Amino acid sequence: MALISAPSVNNRFTQLFIAALLLVGIFWYIVPSSEVAKHISIPGLHSSSSPKPPPSTRPNALPPKPHHPIDHLIAEADVDLKTLLAKETHNVHDAAHAYRLRRGRQPPPHFDEWFAFAQNHSALMVEDFFDQIYTDLNPFWGVPAKQIREQANAFLHRISVRGGKTTQRTDVDERPWLNLWEDMVGSVAEWLPDVDLPINVMDESRVVVPWEEIDGYMQTELASRRVVEAAELKTEFVAAAGSLKALDDSPLLEFDPLFEGRGPYWPLAVVGCSPESPARKAYIETDFSTAPPLTGGFPEGSYEGYVSNWTLAKSPCDNAALQGLHGTFVEPISIATTKKFFPLFGGSKLPMNNEILLPPAMYWTDDPFYSGGKEHGQAWDKKRDGMIWRGAASGGRNKAENWKRFQRHRFVSMVNSTSVRTSETSGNAPQNFVLPAHNPYDLAVSPNETSFADWLSTWSNAAVVHLLCFPENPADRSHCSYTDRYFSVAHQMPMKEQYAYKYLPDIDGNSFSGRYRAFLFSTSLPIKATIYQEWHDSRLVPWRHFVPVDNTFADVYGIMEYFLGNEGMRVGGHDEVAREIAMGGKAWAEKVLRREDMQIYTFRLLLEYARLCDEERERMGWRESGVG
Ligand SMILES: *[C@@H]1O[C@H](CO)[C@@H](O)[C@H](O)[C@H]1NC(C)=O
Ligand SMILES: *[C@@H]1O[C@H](CO)[C@@H](O)[C@H](O)[C@H]1NC(C)=O
Ligand SMILES: *[C@@H]1O[C@H](CO)[C@@H](O)[C@H](O)[C@H]1NC(C)=O
Ligand SMILES: *[C@@H]1O[C@H](CO)[C@@H](O)[C@H](O)[C@H]1NC(C)=O
Repeated sequence: MALISAPSVNNRFTQLFIAALLLVGIFWYIVPSSEVAKHISIPGLHSSSSPKPPPSTRPNALPPKPHHPIDHLIAEADVDLKTLLAKETHNVHDAAHAYRLRRGRQPPPHFDEWFAFAQNHSALMVEDFFDQIYTDLNPFWGVPAKQIREQANAFLHRISVRGGKTTQRTDVDERPWLNLWEDMVGSVAEWLPDVDLPINVMDESRVVVPWEEIDGYMQTELASRRVVEAAELKTEFVAAAGSLKALDDSPLLEFDPLFEGRGPYWPLAVVGCSPESPARKAYIETDFSTAPPLTGGFPEGSYEGYVSNWTLAKSPCDNAALQGLHGTFVEPISIATTKKFFPLFGGSKLPMNNEILLPPAMYWTDDPFYSGGKEHGQAWDKKRDGMIWRGAASGGRNKAENWKRFQRHRFVSMVNSTSVRTSETSGNAPQNFVLPAHNPYDLAVSPNETSFADWLSTWSNAAVVHLLCFPENPADRSHCSYTDRYFSVAHQMPMKEQYAYKYLPDIDGNSFSGRYRAFLFSTSLPIKATIYQEWHDSRLVPWRHFVPVDNTFADVYGIMEYFLGNEGMRVGGHDEVAREIAMGGKAWAEKVLRREDMQIYTFRLLLEYARLCDEERERMGWRESGVG
C-alpha cells in the first residue's frame, strides 16, 4: 500500500493531500488488488521508520460465503460466554455457595476478606475463573502437609511471607522476574498467612511427575473431599501462630529436586500424559532435519478445520505430532526437569507439567516491551487490513538440522508470499510448511495457484527480528548460514506500531508469549496459537475474546479469508465480526485481566496453598456466620 505522509502543514498542502488521497482511492478502485500487490514491498523491513497505514479501504459490498464454519463457532462461543456470565455472584454468601458446588469443600479461611478485596476492586466474580488453581493444587492433597512446607522452605529460590511482609531468597543479586513476583505477592501480603513459595526462575517449565503417580494423589484428594460441618471447622491458619519455620532459624538442608539436564525433552514430558493418550502411544521422533510432518488437512478434533476445543488443540498429550512441530520438544534452550512432586510456582506450563501457576511476571511489569505501554491502538477503521508479526526466531535452539520444525519459523514462512510463490512456480515443496494444494478449506483462490501468493501479499507482514541461529557468528549476528535464504531480518517494531494492523498473530517463543495480555488489551485482534497453560485460561472464551489457531497453522489461511475476504475473487469478508471480537476481547480484558484481577487470583491461590501446608487442612475453612 502507498505510504501517505503526515498531513497538512498549510492549506495548499492539505488540498494536495486530499487530491492525492482521491487518486489513491481511484487507483484502488480500478486496479485489481492482485496487480497492486506485486508492487508492494513489505514495510518496516529495511527501514526503522514506521509506515502510517491508510484508513481501511475495505468495501463492504461483496457478499461473504454463506454458512462458514467460523460463523457456527462464534455462535457457540456466544452461548459459552453467556453461560459463564450467568454464574456471576454478587455477595460472599453466593460466592461461597458457588465455591462449595464446584470444589466440594468449604472455602479456605479468610474467604470473606478475600471476597471483600475482590469486591473493593470491582471484580467480576465467577467461580470458574479460578479453575486453574484447583488443577494445579489438588494433587497436593495427596502428600503430607509437612512435606510441602519443608520442601518449600528449603528450596533455593523462594518468596516468603511472614507477618504480612514478603522477602525473597535466590542465588544471584538480581532476578527481575523474581522481583516482580515478590512485588505482586507483596501487594496482597497484608492479608496472607505465612507461606513459602518456591519459584521457577527459568523460562521453561520444570516438573513432570508420572501421570500414574499424580493420578494416585488425585484419588486421595477425591476421597478426602467433603464440606466440613460449620461447628467442626477450624477457621485460622496454624501457620499464623508461628508453626512455620522462622526465616532466620538455621536453614534446613537445601531441598534439591534433582533436576535432569539431558534431553530430548519429549520422552521426559510424555510421562505426564495419561497412558491412553496419543502422546504416550506415539513413536518417538529423533530426526528433525526433514520437512515437518504436515498434511495441510484439517487438524485432529477440529470443526471443519477450525479450532472447536481449545484445550484439545493446545494439548501435546492429545497431539503427538507436536513433538516435531514445536521448539519446546524439538530442542529447548535449557532443560532442567524433575519427576519429583514438590510445589514450584511459575508463569506457564504444559498440560503434562505440575507447576503451580501465578500470573506471569511479564504481565505485572510496566516495561512496554511486554505491556505495550499506555497506548492500545487507533480506532479499528483507521487500521490496515492486514496481519503483522514481529519477533525473534526463538522457540528453542534452532540449528541447521532442526530449524524447519520451529513454530515461529514455520509461521513466518507460510505467510511469506515470496516463499509461497517460489514453491508454486517451481513446483518444489516448501522447506518448512505445506501448501494445502487440494484446498480442503475451500479458499477462493486455491493455494496451488500463483494468485494465492498475490492474495497473501495484500495482507501479510511477518518477519523475524533476530535469527538466533546456532552456532552464531559473533561478528555477524544478523546472518545465519542455514536460514539466510528463507528469512530477512526486520527491525524491532514497538507494539503500539503493530497496533496499526487489525490482526496480531501470537506464537509461543521459548515458553508462552509474554505479549499476549497486551494484545488482548489492544484495539487489534489477537490470533493465538500455543501449547502453554496460563492463569487466565478459564476466563477467556475462544472466538469471543480472541481467535484460536491450531499449532500446525493449517487453518490460518482460512481464518484470514473469513475476516478479510478476497477482493480479487469478489468474496466478502467479516470485518465487522473481527472488530467485535477485538473490541469485545479488549472490554473483557479490562474487566477480568486487570492488575487487580491478578492480585485477586494470587490472594485466592495463596489462601488455598497455605491451607494445604497446614496440618489441620482436612477440617479447615471459612465459617459463614448465621450458617450451620
Ligand atoms: C474493603 O473496603 C473497606 C471499605 O473501604 C475496607 O474497610 C476494607 O478494609 C477493605 N478490605 C479489603 C480486604 O480490601
Ligand atoms: C476437549 O478436549 C479435552 C482434552 O482432550 C477433553 O478432556 C474435553 O472433554 C473436550 N471437551 C469437549 C467439550 O469435548
Ligand atoms: C489445484 O486446485 C484445483 C482447484 O482447487 C484442484 O482442482 C487441483 O486438483 C489442484 N491441483 C493440485 C496439483 O493439487
Ligand atoms: C520470504 O521468503 C523469501 C524466499 O524464501 C526470502 O528471501 C525472504 O527473506 C522472506 N521474507 C521474510 C520477511 O522473511
